[in-house]
Amino acid sequence: MRGKDLVSVDDLSRADIELILDRAESFAEVSVREIKKVPTLRGRTIVNLFYEASTRTSSSFELAAKRLSADVVNIKSVGSSVDKGESLKDTVQTLSAYDPAAIVIRSPHAGAAGLVARWSAASVINAGDGKHEHPTQALLDVYTLRRRLGALEGVKIWIVGDVLHSRVARSGVLAFSRMGCSVTVCGPPTLIPRGVEALGCDVRWSLEGIEEANVIYALRMQNERMTGSFVPSLREYAARYQIDGRRLAPGQLLMHPGPVNRGVELAGEVVDSPQALIVQQVESGVVVRMAVLYELLTGGGPDTGSRFARDTAAGEPQPA
Ligand code: NCD
Repeated sequence: MRGKDLVSVDDLSRADIELILDRAESFAEVSVREIKKVPTLRGRTIVNLFYEASTRTSSSFELAAKRLSADVVNIKSVGSSVDKGESLKDTVQTLSAYDPAAIVIRSPHAGAAGLVARWSAASVINAGDGKHEHPTQALLDVYTLRRRLGALEGVKIWIVGDVLHSRVARSGVLAFSRMGCSVTVCGPPTLIPRGVEALGCDVRWSLEGIEEANVIYALRMQNERMTGSFVPSLREYAARYQIDGRRLAPGQLLMHPGPVNRGVELAGEVVDSPQALIVQQVESGVVVRMAVLYELLTGGGPDTGSRFARDTAAGEPQPA
C-alpha cells in the first residue's frame, strides 16, 4: 500500500484492496479460535477519535486493535475536551504526545481525516468524514461480498437511497467498481449528487429495472445531514424506494451498512431474510479493520505474510 494513511478508497489500487481482503481472510482464521489475539501490534498505541455517533465502526476498530494486542485509547467527543471547544488540531497535537502508531478518526466534517493525516506523524484511518468517504466500510462490504460470491467481476450492484449524503455510497462505488463490479446508484433526483457518474456508476431515479441486480445495497436516510426537505415525506419515499419482500427478488442479495431505519429504506421482513448479509457485514468489520491496521502499521510488503505466520505460530512480538 502507498503512503501511511487510509483516507479515501482512491488511495487504494485493486491490488491493494486484494491484499487487504486476503489479509482479512487470514485474520478470519484467528477469529474462530478460542483465543482471538495475535501479538502483532504489542506495545503500540492506537487512538480512536470519534466526533460522531457510531456503534459498529467504533466497536470493531476497538476490537480489531485489541486483537492485534495494541494499547487502545477511545475518545468520544461527548465527555472529552472537544466538548469544551478544543479544536481538532489542538486535540491531535495533544494526542500526539502519546506517540500513537495510528489515529482512527470519525468526524462530521468532510476532509477532517485528510487534515489529521497532514498534522500527525501517525497513520491516520478515516472512519467516516461527513458525507465524503468511509473507506473501511467499503472494504468490509467488498470482503463480505467476495466471501459470499467468490469472484466479483461483472457482479451488478444497485446502491439505493440517500446517495447525496452518503460517504458509504461514495466509497462503495469506488471500491466495487475497482473490483470489476458494475454499479448503479438509485434514488430520488434530490438525493443523487450531480456528476456522480464520474465515480464510475450509472444513475437511475426509480427502481424500475432493479431485477437485473445481483446485489441491492440499501442506504440509510441521513436525516442528521439534511438541512432542508429532500423528500416530500418518509412515507412517500418508502412507497417509491423501500426494498421490501415484493421488490427483493429470490436470489438477490441485500446489504446495508447499518443502522437500519426499519420501515423506511428497508421493510422488516427483508432485514431478517436469509438474503440479507447485514450481520455478516458487521462480522467482517473486525477482520477487515485488523487487516488495514496490519498493512499500514507493519509496512505491508511482500514478506509480511511470512512474518504474520511466524508471529501467530511462535507467539512472538513483532519488532516495531
Ligand atoms: C454508516 C456511517 O456512519 O457512515 N454507518 C456505519 O459506519 N456502519 C452509515 C450510516 O450512518 O448510515
